[in-house]
Amino acid sequence: MLFAMTCLALQAAEADNITGGRELYLDFCATCHGVNLEGAPDWQTPGPDGQLPAPPHDETGHTWHHGDAFLFGYVKMGGQAVLDDLGVRYDSGMPPFDGVLGDAEIEAILAYIKSTWPPRVREYQAARTAQEHAERTR
Ligand code: HEC
Repeated sequence: MLFAMTCLALQAAEADNITGGRELYLDFCATCHGVNLEGAPDWQTPGPDGQLPAPPHDETGHTWHHGDAFLFGYVKMGGQAVLDDLGVRYDSGMPPFDGVLGDAEIEAILAYIKSTWPPRVREYQAARTAQEHAERTR
């Protein structure tokens, strides 16, 4: 009984987290990544500045190809810092949100994005997260 109640409480907390994440997403991300996570139009074609437009966060994009730590870092530190760190030469238009959003807020936004994915995509991304964790702790 206690276990069942704890599960319900956790589910309710998770649902609140996702609702909060959706609101934050609409306030801070939707202008570039789309209100329905659909990305910018023609997101695979670089603009006049040579930068790629914001990709979708739904299953048609590639957000789910990345593990949790990568996604968190990308939002907190911005695309440029993460890619520079990896030695990837790329001009990123993804701004850093450090100082704008707290860690828990970034986590809530990512939880919302994930909550929209079908199970197959969630499973793939969870496996990617486990693999990423193994690589980092090796
Ligand atoms: C000013 C426009 C802009 C805003 C606002 C913005 N992004 Fe981005 N974002 C981009 C662009 C452009 C890219 C593609 C360049 C790249 O990948 O470095 C990108 C890439 C990303 C990526 C890596 C690509 C992927 O799908 O894995 C993630 C994750 C991401 N954004 C998450 C977010 C989140 C979460 C927010 C809100 C907190 C946000 N972005 C707000 C422009 C924006």
